[in-house]
Amino acid sequence: MSTLITNISALLHIDLQGRKWKRGRELGEFPISRNAWLLLEDDIIKDFGNMEEGLPENFDEKMDAGGGMILPTWVDSHTHLVYAGTREDEFSQRLHGLSYAEIAARGGGILNSVKKLRQASEDELYDVAAARLEEVMQLGTGAIEIKSGYGLNTESEIKMLKVARRLGENYPLPVKTTFLGAHAFPEKFKDDHQGYVRLISEEMLPEIAAQNLADYVDVFCEEGYFSVDEMLQILEVAQKLNIKSKLHLNQFNSLDSIEKATQHDALSVDHLEVMSEKDKQLLGKSDTVATLLPGCSLFLEIPFAPARDLIQQNAIVALATDYNPGSAPSGNMNLMVSLACIKMKMTPEEAISAATLNGAAALELSDRIGSIEKGKKANFILTPPLSSPSFIPYNFGHNHVQKVFINGKAI
Ligand code: NIG
Ligand code: FE
Repeated sequence: MSTLITNISALLHIDLQGRKWKRGRELGEFPISRNAWLLLEDDIIKDFGNMEEGLPENFDEKMDAGGGMILPTWVDSHTHLVYAGTREDEFSQRLHGLSYAEIAARGGGILNSVKKLRQASEDELYDVAAARLEEVMQLGTGAIEIKSGYGLNTESEIKMLKVARRLGENYPLPVKTTFLGAHAFPEKFKDDHQGYVRLISEEMLPEIAAQNLADYVDVFCEEGYFSVDEMLQILEVAQKLNIKSKLHLNQFNSLDSIEKATQHDALSVDHLEVMSEKDKQLLGKSDTVATLLPGCSLFLEIPFAPARDLIQQNAIVALATDYNPGSAPSGNMNLMVSLACIKMKMTPEEAISAATLNGAAALELSDRIGSIEKGKKANFILTPPLSSPSFIPYNFGHNHVQKVFINGKAI
């Protein structure tokens, strides 16, 4: 079935050259068709053009965009959407002066969520995660990555990944899953780190691979969490199983993890709040995506990642929410785009590109989604009439998502 959408004030293509990503200065290149029409054939973008130059004659259905803008749905390439319970008690503790690290040292933080997750059944987890997913889809997210990492034993990590896989089967958007068994050391292994790395390498990863539950592997490489050597041990096992990595790096400290990650062809390195000059240069020369998470910086009051320097160095910069109960309890990509502009000095064009095409690249989906180009999936956001694309991040905290289309259908 074909659908013609008319009266689009601006069609924000993001790219028209079939690029996998836009890096460095290209990030701000922003092709727009003004006063446009868009033709869909089932779930695919078939064609587009200018209203004054004439409309296609053959179509089954017609829809008037009412002078709104159309842009690709957001790609949230880093979330911890499957979790049990919430942590606003820790939020209050932080407001009373305790730091994220102090709360973790008292048994809070990730291990707090682990306790709650282990008690929840797979169905209970599914229901709360599905509600979160539906909410972020209404906010314009049209593809998402979901990590495990609150189970920290084989059974519970598998339970989380099964929930994420079920979400991917039951909802129309692409869902990629990532195994993050190396998120923290569970209580049982607090004095036996090698024992836990062995459990991950010899039991969890092979079992998860055998059941095809994870598209990627992740490690939280940080002081007090997993060392660079431990990360490498896990990456080597993953490589043998043909599983690529997306890694939590440089959130609080710059170790030499970025160099190692790029040598191992990590698909993305995420966080990057604390970066040395060398780290930035390495990302400028590699095809590893630099995924920035401004919601985490806002919520934890830690530095914002040096987006301008990374763009200047020619890195591939993406934006994601990090949606999780501890460090970033928001899955709103619209807010991330605003924060990227306000706090990281990205231009609106760069931020919107980083939250669409480059997010898709961080999930190996940019051949299908992330831009409005012929042959790509008809996944897009329709806004009300707005004065310009910049209005989206500028009018922060407001909802500019009028309708969300996934696979050519309004959700
Ligand atoms: O991406 N940094 C590690 N993991 C999460 C936070 C997890 C939590 O606090 O529950 C993050 O920020
Ligand atoms: Fe995270």
